[in-house]
Amino acid sequence: MKTKSDFEREKELAAKEAVKLIGDNMIVGLGTGSTAYYAIMEIGQRVKEGLKIKAVPTSEETEKLAASLNIELIDIKTVDAIDLTIDGADEFTSELMMIKGGGGALFREKIVLSLTKKKIIISDSSKKVEMLGKFKVPVEVVPFAANYVLKQIASKGGSSELRMKDGREFLTDQENYIIDADFGLIDDPKTLSTLLNGIEGVLAHGLFIELADQIIMGDGDTAIVFEK
Ligand code: A5P
Repeated sequence: MKTKSDFEREKELAAKEAVKLIGDNMIVGLGTGSTAYYAIMEIGQRVKEGLKIKAVPTSEETEKLAASLNIELIDIKTVDAIDLTIDGADEFTSELMMIKGGGGALFREKIVLSLTKKKIIISDSSKKVEMLGKFKVPVEVVPFAANYVLKQIASKGGSSELRMKDGREFLTDQENYIIDADFGLIDDPKTLSTLLNGIEGVLAHGLFIELADQIIMGDGDTAIVFEK
């Protein structure tokens, strides 16, 4: 059985493989989370060695890490397109469907990936599933609408709870709440995505469909690539 440190090595392996795809003068989207961390560290190393890029962070946490590594940052509001983004996932299938948002950065991640020409997801081998849904679907909501959205999810057959941290509501970088929604195993992610998008007060949800071009998964000493 693989240990936590095996999975860490797989994350690092996938991250290093993905960073090889970055070239000079690219605008690069930087994901959030413990897998994206390895990619950002590797990019920092390449920048130190002379790589010239501009980066768009998907969270305040990533922004701080990138700045500490002297990676030049660019405001997303000034960007028309991103050349390549590297981000992690909480679950994915070989059809490149994903659940993201375990770290709460899903809204910015969705916008950054939507603006990106080449979308690269990196992962260890624990995240690959046959069907999405063991991991609850994070849903970012306007705080004012949180109770309404909880009720709407229940009326559509899901169970859900408000994400808490240190005894109070978890706040995203946009100061919104997260609801973690459980619909069991999801046989039709597209329909569920449409359903969640249709609830007033929902800003974004963690079902990412058609938002990956390539998933690089570390598996032992090998990087396995899933692509369209
Ligand atoms: C952040 O909100 C997420 O979407 C992350 O990309 C996802 O949770 C994967 O995180 P880890 O790489 O830490 O597992």
